[in-house]
Amino acid sequence: MFTLIELPYAKDALAPVISAQTLEFHHGKHLQGYVDNLNKLIADTPFEEMWLEEIVRQSTGGMFNNAGQILNHNLYFTQFGPAETVAKAPTSVLAEQIQTQWGTLDAFKAEFESKGVSLFGSGWVWLSAQEDGTLVITQESGASNPVTEGLKPLLTFDVWEHAYYLDYQNRRAAHLSALWQIVDWRVIESRYND
Ligand SMILES: [Fe+2]
Repeated sequence: MFTLIELPYAKDALAPVISAQTLEFHHGKHLQGYVDNLNKLIADTPFEEMWLEEIVRQSTGGMFNNAGQILNHNLYFTQFGPAETVAKAPTSVLAEQIQTQWGTLDAFKAEFESKGVSLFGSGWVWLSAQEDGTLVITQESGASNPVTEGLKPLLTFDVWEHAYYLDYQNRRAAHLSALWQIVDWRVIESRYND
């Protein structure tokens, strides 16, 4: 049985970038729905004994969609914190790797945002690590996650409309550019170093 992850901050702690109302729906309704659906789908199947990432790698159809969305949202919600407390930039090996590949953190952010803006329809933009530590930005449609391509997921922006429509309506680009204020690079760095 999977359960809804707890948010590591108060519901109003990410405002105005993500409002309490958006979190009520996005975490409390959408993610809860994926958890409930997956639990029904895996009941009395071999998937019941698997880790979430294994299910994402091995399933298809509705089971993949619900499991993928749980994995995506778990990584998404836990990468944020209140703007006044998050680390605004990586510091160690990850910082050097970004500098090697993009020159500056701002150049990386610009490419990441632009891949989020240009993703057609619902999906996710991801920063992931390859086995040799090099970084890659991918666009994943629907419920997909970079683990399906053997990558280690580090950072993601949710570009499904349910992630921003209450706060930003159709202004996806403005929403994505505001998200940097609440990304905690300590979390991203610990995923990279893990
Ligand atoms: Fe979402």
